[in-house]
Amino acid sequence: MTKVGLLGLGAYVPERVMTNDEWAEYVDTSHEWIVSRTGIERRRIAAEDQTTVDLAVEAARSAMADADVSPADIDEIIVATDTPEVFLPDTAAFLQDRLGVGQVPCYDLAGSGCAGFVLALDVARSRVIANDGRVLVVGVELLTRLLNWHDRNTCVLFGDAAGAAVVGRGEDVVEIVGTLAGTDGSKSDILALEAGGTRLPFSEEIAAKGLHKDLVMHGREVFREAVSHMTECSLQVLEEAGLTIDDVDLVVPHQANLRILNAVGNRLGVPAEKVYINVQEYGNTGSASVPLALWEAREKGRISIGDLVLLCAFGAGFHWSAMLLRF
Ligand code: UT7
Repeated sequence: MTKVGLLGLGAYVPERVMTNDEWAEYVDTSHEWIVSRTGIERRRIAAEDQTTVDLAVEAARSAMADADVSPADIDEIIVATDTPEVFLPDTAAFLQDRLGVGQVPCYDLAGSGCAGFVLALDVARSRVIANDGRVLVVGVELLTRLLNWHDRNTCVLFGDAAGAAVVGRGEDVVEIVGTLAGTDGSKSDILALEAGGTRLPFSEEIAAKGLHKDLVMHGREVFREAVSHMTECSLQVLEEAGLTIDDVDLVVPHQANLRILNAVGNRLGVPAEKVYINVQEYGNTGSASVPLALWEAREKGRISIGDLVLLCAFGAGFHWSAMLLRF
């Protein structure tokens, strides 16, 4: 049996860099506060004429080039995003058309927050095991477009980016050797964007109050849950694969907050140099964060052939996901 895994990786970040000092023009904040509480120093902001699919196209092309496949070789597309191109249809449909991929199944995995990409990789792995072929998986967020730029509790945390992978079979793939995902829906109101659905349909009143851009976030509780679930799902995926944390060469976690990443590293008992961190450069880029970090870690030579890499993510839902990759 050939292995199932990643044939290629790609990423894209918009050109415009926004510093912490620039946020002080919109809200009562400071570079010192943002760095001390989050580790974030800057983030990328999409250009006014860019939309979600523009970011997704760039990351997808980069991953397809890395995998040495053309649009005709793609048998399915999964897009993980909470900031879609439009409300209906899904971003995957736009992406298929823009890339010139055939009339294959294309769908979004929406609403699973920052855990979305790893979950989508897991779905892609199952689809390849069932059907063979190649699945293009994209994690993309244009979070700065949909958030309230006057809510200092949330606006300073996020950034725009896209990351992608092609999943398929082969002898030389980055093998997926373990995968795990979970959900605790009882905490869905702790991190949520409520307006626009059937519970709170979009209206003039909602728009006037700006509720469609108000992310409800109980920061401290999200922080605690993120640390415990990212740690637990990491240990569990290792145990199920018959491995231990000592076997891991690099942890690539969802880049939410430097303090969260340090706490997860400490609880896992891994030295700081084994945790890949780029939150200082890009902020929290939602479902794009893990593929962007994984791609960057590989580009910077932090991953060698034979390395075991642990991905772990946590997001609204609450959802969590973890994956083991053998390079
Ligand atoms: O992928 C999941 C997405 N979400 C997250 O990862 C968020 C997880 N949580 C966190 O990262 C942290 O809880 C935050 C960074 C959001 C906040 O850090 P904290 O240490 O938990 O601060 P806090 O919420 O306890 O707030 C402390 C103070 C408050 O003022 P008062 O009430 O003590 O007077 C906030 O109003 O800091 C204030 N504050 C700010 N001050 C300056 C909140 N945001 C800002 C800001 N600039 N941007």
